[in-house]
Amino acid sequence: MSSVRARAAAKINLHLGVGAVRDDGYHGLCTVYQAISLYDEVTAEPWHSWRIETRAEPYVDRAAVPGVGDNIVTRAGTLLADLHDVELRADLVVEKAIPVAGGLAGGSADAAATLVVLDELWDLQTPQEELLKLAAQLGSDVPFALLGGAGHGTGRGELVEAVPDPGEWWWVVVPQRDGLSTPAVYRHFDDMVPHAGTPASADGLIAALATGDPRELAACLHNDLQRPAFDLRPELRSLITLGESEGALRGLVSGSGPTCVFLCEDESHADTVADGLRYTGHVTALVATGPAPGPAADATD
Ligand code: C5P
Repeated sequence: MSSVRARAAAKINLHLGVGAVRDDGYHGLCTVYQAISLYDEVTAEPWHSWRIETRAEPYVDRAAVPGVGDNIVTRAGTLLADLHDVELRADLVVEKAIPVAGGLAGGSADAAATLVVLDELWDLQTPQEELLKLAAQLGSDVPFALLGGAGHGTGRGELVEAVPDPGEWWWVVVPQRDGLSTPAVYRHFDDMVPHAGTPASADGLIAALATGDPRELAACLHNDLQRPAFDLRPELRSLITLGESEGALRGLVSGSGPTCVFLCEDESHADTVADGLRYTGHVTALVATGPAPGPAADATD
């Protein structure tokens, strides 16, 4: 086998209910994830050592990607190699279209795709439940990144069950030049909501998702990290207002931000809203659809 590649989809949180901080420092979550068609790509080839080359779209801040020693891709490779007692050896190329520190779980997606790609390259045939355990060690949203589609996340976000998502949803995604630190946004949430209790239920959102109707979904989108993100980045509030005035059904900060996403009626509506945002707001506006599949290894000889 000369190379294995997999696409790694970005996620958005259609519902992000945040509860009190737990003893381990994480917040209890009740969230609904959807994977969307904005993809990084991870390619691995056999190599006598370990190497990662990162390439990036112009709107992605490549300098913000951690070096090989601190990269979540190296952590993913190390966990898988240790599980099977094999050497950490591969030549990886990570092509990034998902913004870094953007609230779209780009690093988590890369980690999930790396597990899948190396499992194939090294011919390990690791059962999915073992990969999910490694994923949970790598980060709260890596298990969802491995599954793709749409999922209900509880615990700290790492316990995921698939939810029915029969619709075809069209999003405009607006990345920001500078990322936001997820821990900083959660700390700001703690300051703003010092007595958070049980995270808000996702039942209404899950029912709306099952209708396949974008207007129903728009009415139920919810993100408890949006207020803290607005507080840290006031310009995001005006961006949401702008996207909605350009006709989006609803704008929402994605996860801990700062990427904003706009739900539209269909593909041509999303193209129109994206054009409006580019023209009026002078921003990068990408069109993506969900739900998108999780990473699948594609080997070439
Ligand atoms: O799990 P992950 O490494 O992606 O989390 C990054 C950071 O986000 C954590 O260190 C924590 O500060 C915050 N976080 C949290 N509660 C969660 C998930 C993440 O406070 N449920």
